[in-house]
Amino acid sequence: MEKRIISSDLQLEDNEIESSIRPLTLEEYIGQSAIKENIKIFIEAAKVRGEALDHVLLYGPPGLGKTTMAGVIAAEMGVKIKITSGPAIERPGDIAAILNNLQHGDILFIDEIHRMSRQVEEVLYSAMEDYCIDIVVGKGPAAKSIRLTLPKFTLIGATTRAGMLSAPLRDRFGIIQRLEYYTKEELGQIISRAAGILDTEIESDAALEIAKCSRGTPRVANRLLKRVRDIALIKYDRHITEEVCFKALELLNIDRNGLDEIDRRIIEAIALQFKGGPVGLDTLAAAIGEERDTLEDVYEPYLIQQGYMQRTPRGRMLAPKAYEVFDLKSL
Ligand code: ADE
Repeated sequence: MEKRIISSDLQLEDNEIESSIRPLTLEEYIGQSAIKENIKIFIEAAKVRGEALDHVLLYGPPGLGKTTMAGVIAAEMGVKIKITSGPAIERPGDIAAILNNLQHGDILFIDEIHRMSRQVEEVLYSAMEDYCIDIVVGKGPAAKSIRLTLPKFTLIGATTRAGMLSAPLRDRFGIIQRLEYYTKEELGQIISRAAGILDTEIESDAALEIAKCSRGTPRVANRLLKRVRDIALIKYDRHITEEVCFKALELLNIDRNGLDEIDRRIIEAIALQFKGGPVGLDTLAAAIGEERDTLEDVYEPYLIQQGYMQRTPRGRMLAPKAYEVFDLKSL
């Protein structure tokens, strides 16, 4: 029991940290410059016309700041944001209730929008296009369809799998933006900014060292910063230097290439069990004991982007860089 209280307190503290380091304005938001430039114009235009912003679809790998960007858009528009996710909206009645509670200009953010059921999705079609929904009242022969008019709202959908969205849903978004992996320099700035908010001193070399191991994403960058900060506090003198970083990253089992234990298990499995590939995703997931979706959404995109792995029609294969970086014979 005591353990549970302690862990939920820690969780709370981490969530509080999370929200304190999130940027609130486009100015504070580091990286994604092409998206920021576009969004800034669309927000200004909507404000000049006194209209709600057109519906926005944000897509790209996990951890790149889609929720953060939605929050920034809401703050810049000066409107309220209601946050939910595809799997949380179970029935058409759930989405109807959410939509009916919005006010003019409000933003509805649906994370993992590709995971909505077809019936829920169909309610969204008319809501997005004509700002109305048809609800059925009563049962059997007495059932009647009533048209409910909605306020002009903005839907921001986020997905890691744009390809899994149906064409009718995708076509109803007026603004479609792909978030890219962040550069090492951008992540270094994000880490230095977050450290400043957390009242933690960090040398710029140290921030870049954490950035190199952040898999191109602010989510990992901020998570690593928090853990390195803990290690610096307990084992060193709080101050995060490059040397402290090296030691901390070693403790966290992250190598100099920024790969973690699971990345290395994936590379090792393809090299040794499957002789370099090709191997199917399900087989690979079973071999390393991970969920197929986690492998496909989180690990694979980064390993491919970094040139360790290739996706071929016959399955996944190691790329030459994996053989160069790792001494595969001794793996
Ligand atoms: N924290 C998380 N993502 C960020 C970003 N893109 N800019 C600044 N701080 C962040």
